[in-house]
Amino acid sequence: MKTGRFAGKVALITGGSRGIGAEIARRLAREGARVTVGYRGNRVAAEAVQAEIAALGAEARIAAADVADPVAAQALVESAHAAHGRLDILVHAAGIAPYLPLERCDAAHYRTVFDTNVLSTLTLTRAAAPLLTAPGGRVVHLSSRLVWAPIPGSAVYAASKAAVTALTLALAKELGPRGITINAVAPGVIETDMTEAIVAERGEAIRAMTPLGRIGKPEDVAGVVAFLASEDAGWITGRTIRADGGMA
Ligand SMILES: NC(=O)c1ccc[n+]([C@@H]2O[C@H](COP(=O)([O-])OP(=O)(O)OC[C@H]3O[C@@H](n4cnc5c(N)ncnc54)[C@H](OP(=O)(O)O)[C@@H]3O)[C@@H](O)[C@H]2O)c1
Repeated sequence: MKTGRFAGKVALITGGSRGIGAEIARRLAREGARVTVGYRGNRVAAEAVQAEIAALGAEARIAAADVADPVAAQALVESAHAAHGRLDILVHAAGIAPYLPLERCDAAHYRTVFDTNVLSTLTLTRAAAPLLTAPGGRVVHLSSRLVWAPIPGSAVYAASKAAVTALTLALAKELGPRGITINAVAPGVIETDMTEAIVAERGEAIRAMTPLGRIGKPEDVAGVVAFLASEDAGWITGRTIRADGGMA
């Protein structure tokens, strides 16, 4: 696809095989970007996203990497850059949210969540920084509304997303002088595999918490990410934008 807001741009979307990341990959590709769809292990899902993008007349490659592994994360970024000789946009949507009560929050749980959600944010951004188009490069991370409104069982996950928000704010100061922006989007509850159980259990209560009276969809987040990745958002950096349907 040669036209659109992202024509000529190259994007890497981690977590691009499912849920929010998959919708971001489709969105950026539909608007002209050549995308790398990152995933951990679900090759079938990644290939399905790749096929959907191809059906739009756009271009996608898929790349498996465990973003919790710094060596693999670095290689993922380098491969996305090498595939097209440039990298304009990094969207880090890969993440996990295993909720556990305090008595089960052991060191292994903490390390798994922080390695996947936080260490990855640092290593992917560090790997991308020298490769991103400058000025004009864009980095978008995924935080969460739970940073400000945690629910029982979400302590470690909420803390990991608070770290993502803090990294975003701090790293904006280091990337800013090169004309690269870095922001995060903090969704409320969005219907994906990650929230299937909680939506089944508490769907009505969640709907009632937003003035809009519905549960969020991946498209609701993808549009905000696309804006932050676009040229129009060049004066926004270091921010975490809440996309939560105005949830109370
Ligand atoms: N859904 C929500 O309500 C919500 C709310 C706030 C924030 N978020 C955040 O938004 C992001 C996307 O969430 P989602 O709901 O779309 O999640 P999802 O449907 O569970 O999909 C998770 C994606 O991340 C990938 N992934 C997980 N661990 C990985 C690892 N170690 N290395 C590489 N890839 C990995 C998965 O790859 P495979 O397919 O290969 O497993 C998949 O593509 C996450 O950061 C999440 O914390 C979600």
